[in-house]
Amino acid sequence: MQGVREQFAEDNKNIVDERNNIDEKNAISEKGIEYANNTICDNDRVSSKGKSPSMSQIEMTQLVLPNDTNVLGNLLGGRLMHWIDIAGAMAASRHSNKVVATVALDSLDFRHPVRMGEFVILKAKLTWVGRTSMEVTVSVFAENYETGSVIQTNKAYITYVALDHDGNPTPVPSLLPETEEEKKDYMEAEQRRNERLDRRKKETGC
Ligand SMILES: CC(C)(COP(=O)(O)OP(=O)(O)OC[C@H]1O[C@@H](n2cnc3c(N)ncnc32)[C@H](O)[C@@H]1OP(=O)(O)O)[C@@H](O)C(=O)NCCC(=O)NCCS
Repeated sequence: MQGVREQFAEDNKNIVDERNNIDEKNAISEKGIEYANNTICDNDRVSSKGKSPSMSQIEMTQLVLPNDTNVLGNLLGGRLMHWIDIAGAMAASRHSNKVVATVALDSLDFRHPVRMGEFVILKAKLTWVGRTSMEVTVSVFAENYETGSVIQTNKAYITYVALDHDGNPTPVPSLLPETEEEKKDYMEAEQRRNERLDRRKKETGC
């Protein structure tokens, strides 16, 4: 009889422990929902005020494999342009929370060859935004992991336009440059945009 009572007490304790465990888990998931809601609210607040360039910057690293190279074992220019476009588009999408289309890519110089087996590091950061368009600068570095050397090989300026679900240009949050360098980049970007639009006007008449 004593054994049955002890077993009953033990079972009861297990049930209580299990219930406490469930309550604790529920409390944690409620906290998670509250946290997620706050984050969403924060995001709305940020979007209405604008965002700093550092909030959307991207760093992307690629390993140069044989399929990425020419017969000399150097990275193909077209492959690098593809990676530059992807890195820039991710930064623009992160800023605008929208799908983006590439509308202009300024001239791109290849300063150093990148060799097979090296790492390519692409750093993309917004420099300027208009109503629906954004300029992103993508800086490219080649890293040789054996020697530890890192050299800048390219720098590109790309303009993206944010699109709505129908594929039409849609407004983006404003950009709030914070550092002196970001403020300088912003002014220089505005000049580049004017030059681009002048060029477009000359070429297309609109
Ligand atoms: C993106 C697209 C829908 C925009 O249409 P659009 O008729 O040019 O729209 P708008 O004239 O209103 O221009 C939208 C914005 O882009 C800017 N823009 C357009 N062409 C530009 C250029 N060559 N350089 C810089 N900015 C440009 C405009 O100044 C405007 O900026 P703002 O809203 O910040 O003032 C259209 O150009 C398009 O579909 N292009 C092809 C995109 C594509 O396929 N890209 C991949 C090809 S590799």
